[in-house]
Amino acid sequence: MLIDTYGRVATDLRVSLTDRCNLRCTYCMPEEGLSWLAKPDLLTDEEIVRLVRVAVTALGVTEVRFTGGEPLLRPGLVGIVQECAALEPRPQLSLTTNGIGLGRTAAALKEAGLDRVNVSLDTLRPEVFKTLTRRDRHQDVLAGLAAAHEAGLTPVKVNSVLMPGHNADEAPDLLAWAVAHDYELRFIEQMPLDAQHGWKREGMITAGDILASLRTRFTLTEEAGERGSAPAERWLVDGGPHRVGVIGSVTRPFCAACDRTRLTADGQIRTCLFASEETDLRAALRSGAPDEELARIWRQAMWGKKAGSGLDDPSFLQPQRPMSAIGG
Ligand code: 5AD
Ligand code: SF4
Repeated sequence: MLIDTYGRVATDLRVSLTDRCNLRCTYCMPEEGLSWLAKPDLLTDEEIVRLVRVAVTALGVTEVRFTGGEPLLRPGLVGIVQECAALEPRPQLSLTTNGIGLGRTAAALKEAGLDRVNVSLDTLRPEVFKTLTRRDRHQDVLAGLAAAHEAGLTPVKVNSVLMPGHNADEAPDLLAWAVAHDYELRFIEQMPLDAQHGWKREGMITAGDILASLRTRFTLTEEAGERGSAPAERWLVDGGPHRVGVIGSVTRPFCAACDRTRLTADGQIRTCLFASEETDLRAALRSGAPDEELARIWRQAMWGKKAGSGLDDPSFLQPQRPMSAIGG
């Protein structure tokens, strides 16, 4: 098992497949000038599958989520999914994507064994999409979402980040649209993970703001049951069956129940989105370490996991890597 000194057990592995992206969301990447990981530093498809196998067979991981950057830009994605779906015990497999290109690949991904997708979409207005992501691809994302739903990659989840001055007023419209399309919407508070270090706590749109805005149009009722390790607090919309989630990473942190472990595209273990340290698994992998040794390094990294993100600590320093190189 991947257990830490606070008794938390990580069963959910996030694997970043590339740090590259075809969008430039303002809360994630700068307009230009971000350098990419070099090809030889990236794990190969085989190396990724091997590490996922170690996680699933030796470390108790039951859920694997592929992220980026934009994971659909990884040429070997379908093959990686296929190999991971063949593992015993079979992990749950999901993908966090911006949706561009999903129109072409959703069916093949489903066929390969992918269970679900999370698609990032912050606005229903093409012109706002263009300023938020610096690319004119709104239509591609909508097509990707429709294809994912059609392919049965359900429930299709949509992640939205609200940004002051852009889409701050769109929460109710996004929810009405999501309900109409049978997508499960989750709002994520903006976190200090942008490459340009432009995040400011003042002015950020909080979980409280989002709920207040939604309640101007919908009745939200808390679902029975515990929040557990799920970061999203979920509400039934107008009595259900549709739900909406709000992930208050900044104002309502869920670190005490965290069940995540992360692997970057260049083979580093991260115990937290906000961690300042990483553990190099690639070096051991490439020097011929057997599975047991890789598992031992991973367990040891997990043992060092901090209690929380440190976001509320005055000495908090944003991680060196931007979100695009960590994975969501
Ligand atoms: N704060 C909150 N969410 C972010 N994402 C990317 N950068 C940030 C940030 N700084 C979201 C994306 C995507 C998911 C992987 O994380 O919109 O939905
Ligand atoms: Fe790309 Fe996702 Fe970052 Fe937007 S948030 S630039 S889609 S990696």
